[in-house]
Amino acid sequence: MQLFTILTTDVAKSAGVAYVHYLSFTLCFTALVLERRLIKANLDYREATTMVVTDILYGIAALALLVSGILRVIHFGQGPDFYTENPLFWWKVGLYFSVGGLSLYPTITYVIWIIPLRKGEVPRVDQSLANRLSWIINIELIGFASIPLLATLMARGVGLPIT
Ligand code: HEM
Repeated sequence: MQLFTILTTDVAKSAGVAYVHYLSFTLCFTALVLERRLIKANLDYREATTMVVTDILYGIAALALLVSGILRVIHFGQGPDFYTENPLFWWKVGLYFSVGGLSLYPTITYVIWIIPLRKGEVPRVDQSLANRLSWIINIELIGFASIPLLATLMARGVGLPIT
């Protein structure tokens, strides 16, 4: 009964948004690891399709990460000022959008693959494209792994101006 009472309060909403934030982060990271493991020259049909589907899931999870993050800033966190006055928060946001910007090249590449895949053909992936994509995904993984460090410091007020 007490559990039910707790779940109908703002605490449950706040916990739900925090959960979406962590889950979407985990999904983004997992999708990138999967893409990194799959990418190679001369992918077969199934591997290329898996890359495309994985990237779509990555995009959806990245969007959920952003939306849940914004909700936490506005409604479910420690107040918008607590974050916006902290440079670590802006580093975190900047890193997120930098990784997002880097994702454009792989994403556009996979979108182009959809054309041959829909005809039942295999997209052409030569060694130099595979190397380029591997490197971009490596950098994205490092970026994604660094963001939680900024987040944990930011959540504890590290970086806030001393008043
Ligand atoms: C622009 C996008 C983002 C915004 C606006 C945002 C915002 C927030 C906010 C407001 C919190 C709550 C901090 C608190 O408890 O006071 C938070 C926590 C957290 N965020 Fe984000 N976030 C974003 C992206 C990310 C990304 C991309 C990651 C991971 C790669 C991430 C990982 C975390 C983690 C691990 C926490 C928990 C920190 C802790 O409680 O110790 N966030 N985020």
